[in-house]
Amino acid sequence: VTDAAPPSPSPPPGTLLATAEAPGKAILLGEHAVVYGHPALAGALGRGVRVTVRADPQGPRLHPGPLAAPVPIREGDGGALGTALARVLADVAPGLRQVALVAEGSLPLGSGLGSSAALSVACARALAQTAGAPLSPDRLYDVVRHAEEVFHGNPSGVDQATVVRGGVLLFRRASTEPGARPHVTPVTPARPLHLVVAMLRPHTGTREAVAALRERRDRHPRTVDGLMAELGALALDGARALESGCPGRLGELMDLSHGILAALGVSSDDLDHLVHLARRAGALGAKLTGAGVGGAIIALPGQAPDAAQRILDAMTTVGAVAFLARVGEPPTGSPG
Ligand code: PMV
Repeated sequence: VTDAAPPSPSPPPGTLLATAEAPGKAILLGEHAVVYGHPALAGALGRGVRVTVRADPQGPRLHPGPLAAPVPIREGDGGALGTALARVLADVAPGLRQVALVAEGSLPLGSGLGSSAALSVACARALAQTAGAPLSPDRLYDVVRHAEEVFHGNPSGVDQATVVRGGVLLFRRASTEPGARPHVTPVTPARPLHLVVAMLRPHTGTREAVAALRERRDRHPRTVDGLMAELGALALDGARALESGCPGRLGELMDLSHGILAALGVSSDDLDHLVHLARRAGALGAKLTGAGVGGAIIALPGQAPDAAQRILDAMTTVGAVAFLARVGEPPTGSPG
């Protein structure tokens, strides 16, 4: 005999339990240098990921997209995606099993636009809603950082901070002191910021690009450290250019940054080609964004009404996927 309450009945399969969103991100200046403690300037994109939670007796599992087979949300046999989301689930709603997470998005994957951080943030928000336990932004950042370690090894945290907080921000990674938090300073652009984003192929991997640069730094510490410090200084200059509404200056800073990133070995023929085409089509500046070695470029259009379209046309004539994105979107979706 037991006087425990009977378990509450499960909702019928397919029942909608929660929906949440998260934006992608673009690093405007300071990628790679941010790994070494220098500042980076990044902004949330007006494109992202939406996640719906539905009752599913075969859960927990993820439906990554309309054409992809469901992935079990489990450490190990769920691959990197299943392992990362198993961490999110264990951190946010450990008791929740019979759920399917259905993801829809408008971000190219593996291109340095924060698709994995956006997926983790949207999943964490949706699971927190389902469990009725909202997450503070700091807690959400920690949950997503834990998941991102699966993809990135030891990420600086700039992707997660930008996707969680939205807007445009200057980010400096946390020191190695126990309990230290990153420094995040919001940046308010004097005028709306739109960038052309373009890519020809996914990048070869953030973890790989960061590791290759670390080896180069071991061989050439003085030069690489000097160039990293310059990239961080360009990020600070970029924040000031945005706040004072100087797009021409921001464009120049982007060009300088691309040159330094190429010197550091994280550009590639396709990225250099897109950057040159964008400049020839009138961009005020253009550079790779994110880890590099493939992935996306960003280009800053001038003020003319057809400025963005000219760059988009130049990108699509060489077969690139390209779109115009508003940068600095406020946080989307449910709180937390
Ligand atoms: O994952 P991506 O492509 O957004 O690159 C992240 C930016 C890096 O600075 C290269 C790595 C990091 O952890 O900050």
